[in-house]
Amino acid sequence: QSPALIDPFGRRIEYLRVSVTDRCDLRCNYCMPRGFRDFEVPEHWLTTAELERIVGAFARLGTRRVRLTGGEPLVRKELPDMARAIASLPGIRDLSLSTNATRLRRHAEELHAAGVDRLNVSLDTLDPERFKAITGGRLDKVLDGLEAARDAGLGPVKINTVVQRGTNDDELDGLVDYCIERGFTLRFIETMPVGDTGREATDDYVDLAEVRRGLEQRFDLLPAAMPGGGPARYVQVAGTDVKIGFITPLSQHFCDTCNRVRLGVDGTLYLCLGDEATYDLRTPVREGASDAELEAHIHAAIAHKPERHEFNDRPEKVVRFMSMTGG
Ligand code: GTP
Ligand code: 5AD
Ligand code: SF4
Repeated sequence: QSPALIDPFGRRIEYLRVSVTDRCDLRCNYCMPRGFRDFEVPEHWLTTAELERIVGAFARLGTRRVRLTGGEPLVRKELPDMARAIASLPGIRDLSLSTNATRLRRHAEELHAAGVDRLNVSLDTLDPERFKAITGGRLDKVLDGLEAARDAGLGPVKINTVVQRGTNDDELDGLVDYCIERGFTLRFIETMPVGDTGREATDDYVDLAEVRRGLEQRFDLLPAAMPGGGPARYVQVAGTDVKIGFITPLSQHFCDTCNRVRLGVDGTLYLCLGDEATYDLRTPVREGASDAELEAHIHAAIAHKPERHEFNDRPEKVVRFMSMTGG
């Protein structure tokens, strides 16, 4: 058994988020710049076998949970192979996917069979015109993708809603109703200044304390716990099984309990969402590092993990776009 990953602030790192592409078929106004188009898989992107090696090393070092994300992970055709490879690694107990759901109808069953345990789906509005304005895409495909996930037994599902003033802050009750009807967990998210696109979107930032007060006018919200140690703080809607999570990186950060790092599609390890600290894992893998050498590189990387983000004091700091790491 290799030694566990503990960062300089005593936090145990046991959750790896893997971006399998930086491309996406949508263009959410807080995430990706417009006009990115590229179809080939570049040589510097990790192959399924390389990804399996890196995630395998993390698993030996105590990683128990892996999230596949993007960009939009379903635009990478190798995604089901990658999911299968990761799900069968010893030690991995939770394999989840963050997706926009536009392609789920086609892939839900295959992903379920590949070993994906659960889904987080971005959905900011139930109005087709607004959806088009926020993402450039079609809402009906997303709603159909969500039904497909239910049909395939691919769940539980969490809905992620980034709250933006003047865009969707007047329809949050409707999203709660939608989730109550379907048994989905709903999480509201504060916009983060990641990349120019995220930074511009923070002009319409909403503090989620305000959202919570608004919901309390209509729903009885009880304190609730959710296993997993993610960033959200949860309440339960009284009289239902439904939980609502609040993800508040700006108004109330959660860095003290951070348990995660992010692997980019080119094998760059990002040590914090709110920082540009990185460590290259592709070079050692391609140069034939042994398992023990690869584990030593991962330990060396974790030694560089920052204590916390500085989104409030230095919003200009993170220049990469959200689509590089998938949030
Ligand atoms: P679970 O494993 O289901 O708890 O997922 P998650 O909430 O960790 O992940 P998801 O990809 O659904 O992200 C939801 C929101 O939380 C996104 O806006 C992410 O950017 C944000 N988020 C996730 N992890 C972190 C983090 O470590 N730091 C910050 N600041 N935000 C995060
Ligand atoms: N701030 C907060 N959340 C964001 N996401 C993408 N960009 C941002 C941002 N700038 C969210 C997406 C997705 C999740 C993984 O990250 O809505 O649901
Ligand atoms: Fe962890 Fe950085 Fe996110 Fe804070 S901002 S929770 S330290 S990844």
